[in-house]
Amino acid sequence: MFRFDPFSAEIDANPFPAYRRLRDEFPCFWSEEANMWILSRFADIAAALNDWRRYSSANGNMMTELPNRAGATLGTTDPPRHDRLRALVQHAFVKRNLESLTGAIRDIAREAAEALRGRQRFDFIGDFSSRFTVRVLFAALGLPLGDEATVREKAVQMVQSDPATRAKGPEHIAAYEWMQAYAAKVIAERRAKPLNDLISHFSLAEIDGDRLDEREVLLTTTTLIMAGVESLGGFMSMFGLNLADFPEARRAVVANPALLPDAMEESLRYNTSAQRFRRCLTEDVEMHGQRMRAGDFVCLAYGSGNRDERQYPNADVYDLARKPRGHLGFGGSVHACLGATIARLSLTIAMDEFHKVVPDYHRVEASLPWMPSSTFRSPMRLELEPA
Ligand code: HEM
Repeated sequence: MFRFDPFSAEIDANPFPAYRRLRDEFPCFWSEEANMWILSRFADIAAALNDWRRYSSANGNMMTELPNRAGATLGTTDPPRHDRLRALVQHAFVKRNLESLTGAIRDIAREAAEALRGRQRFDFIGDFSSRFTVRVLFAALGLPLGDEATVREKAVQMVQSDPATRAKGPEHIAAYEWMQAYAAKVIAERRAKPLNDLISHFSLAEIDGDRLDEREVLLTTTTLIMAGVESLGGFMSMFGLNLADFPEARRAVVANPALLPDAMEESLRYNTSAQRFRRCLTEDVEMHGQRMRAGDFVCLAYGSGNRDERQYPNADVYDLARKPRGHLGFGGSVHACLGATIARLSLTIAMDEFHKVVPDYHRVEASLPWMPSSTFRSPMRLELEPA
C-alpha cells in the first residue's frame, strides 16, 4: 500500500520518487501519517493558492504549527486581515530600501568567502552560507550583533518537528519562546531609539492611521527572523548543492555571473527548501474523485508541483536555460514570499563572491545529513573540496 509520511527520514532525504507517485496515481491523497490531504500537481496547488477563501491559512501554514502563531501574523492570516499586515510590513521594506543594502551584502559575502581562501575542505553551510545569511538578515532587520549563532540555532530548531510524535517537541517550543523574548527585547530597544532597519520601520509603521498592535509586532518580528534566517540559509545550501552537483551549470555561471539569477530560479524550481506548507478547508471540496471536508488540513507540496511534467517538460532535469517563471519555490498568490526580493539579491551576490574564491569544487560525501522537518528540506552539512 502506498504511504506518504512527510515526517520520515526517507522523505527528508529524497521526496521526489514519492511525489511522482502522488502526482501520477494519487493526486488528492489522504496521508494517515500527516493527518492531512496532499496536493502534488502544479495546477491543483496553484488553484488552491488562488482560492484562499476555501484554502485558509488562519489555522497555521507550517505542517506542524507553533503555538499562538495561527491567525496572528503573516503566513497565518487570511485577507483582509492578512493584506493589512502585509501592507504595513511591505511599507517597512520600502522604507528600508533594499537597494541601499547592496553594498553591505557584498561586503558580508566577500568577507565570508575570503575566510575560505586556501582551505582544502570546508562545510559550505557552517563555514559559509549560514555565516553569510545570518549577517545579512541581522543587517536588514536591525538585530544587534553578537547573538548571530544563538539566533540561527533557535530559528533552525523552530522549524523542525519530532519524527516520532509528528509534532513539535519541547525543545522546538522552547526555541520559539526564546525567540519571542529576544524579539520583544529588540522591539523595545528600537522603539526607544529607532534606526533605519526593518524592525524600527514596521513597529512604528502607520497607513491611514492604522498600526500593528503589540501582539502583531511581536509575532511578525518573530516570523521575519525565523523565515529570514532559516529559509534564506536553507535555500542557500540547496543552491550550493545544485551547483556542486551540476558541473556544467556551475562552469557556466562562474564564466558568466550574469547567469546566476537564472540558476537561482531553476534551483528554486528544482528543489526549493520550502517543500510543503498547509492550509485548512473552510468548506467541502471535491477533487480527483475525493471529497475533502471542511476543517480538513491540506498540504500544498510546492516541491512536487515544481517537478510536475504537466507544467515543466523534463522536470527532473536541472536546466539552466529553463527560466521557470511562476514556479512554486516562493509559494504564490496572496502569501507569496515577502522576502523574495532580498533573497534573490543576496544569494546571487553571495554565490558570485564565493566563486571568486572557490571557482571549482565538488561534494565530498555522497549522502547528506538532512534536517528533520516536515515543512522545509535542506542538509545540515555540505562538505566541499575545491578542485
Ligand atoms: C530563498 C529563501 C526563501 C524561500 C525559499 C522562501 C519561501 C517561502 C514560501 C514558500 C512562502 C509561502 C508560505 C505559504 O504558502 O504559506 C514564504 C512566505 C513568507 N516568507 Fe519566505 N522564503 C525565503 C526567504 C525569506 C526571507 C529572507 C524572508 C524575510 C526577510 C521571508 C519572509 C517570508 C514571509 C514574511 C512570508 C509570509 C508572507 C505572507 O503570508 O504574506 N522569506 N516564503
